[in-house]
Amino acid sequence: MSIGVSMRWVTLSGFFVLAAIAVVIVVIGQGADRKADLGDPARGAVLYAENCASCHGANLEGQPDWRSPGEDGVLPAPPHDRTGHTWHHGDGLLFDYTKLGGAEMLKRMGVTGVNSGMPGFADSLSDQEIWDILAFIKTSWPERERELQQQRTLAEQMKGN
Ligand code: HEC
Repeated sequence: MSIGVSMRWVTLSGFFVLAAIAVVIVVIGQGADRKADLGDPARGAVLYAENCASCHGANLEGQPDWRSPGEDGVLPAPPHDRTGHTWHHGDGLLFDYTKLGGAEMLKRMGVTGVNSGMPGFADSLSDQEIWDILAFIKTSWPERERELQQQRTLAEQMKGN
């Protein structure tokens, strides 16, 4: 075999490996974002206004000084837009936090000494309605934050969440 042929073979097989990896990444990525992407952001916007805006702000801006707990030890509601930390969390955690509420989630995570101000919505919103709201919240994130959040969702899923 001449050098020319074997080099071409190396380049060609390298190309196929890269193509295969790209396909796997795309497939996994679609799976990860599936639920929130199936959510309807238009319906989510209405549900957000009715259920979340009173604390998290009509424009997802959160409450003033949201990093400092009040005298009762309760944190103000954080923003859900890119200035907050919602996009630091994967879909599973965001869904659970909304459905179960802060007190239950902090208990599960072993956090003590914090009084949560975040109510649970298990009794008032269906699972689909929660995904609709999360889909709406995601529309406020730029491309970069959306991608990072999608990676976080994947990482959570690999840990079995
Ligand atoms: C009564 C005020 C209040 C309402 C109403 C409320 N939240 Fe919250 N939320 C909070 C507070 C305060 C926190 C901060 C964390 C804590 O105290 O547990 C929080 C935290 C969160 C978090 C975790 C932090 C983050 O940004 O990732 C999510 C997710 C969340 N809220 C989603 C929602 C959604 C969705 C709705 C509407 C269905 C909603 N919240 C309605 C007060 C509220």
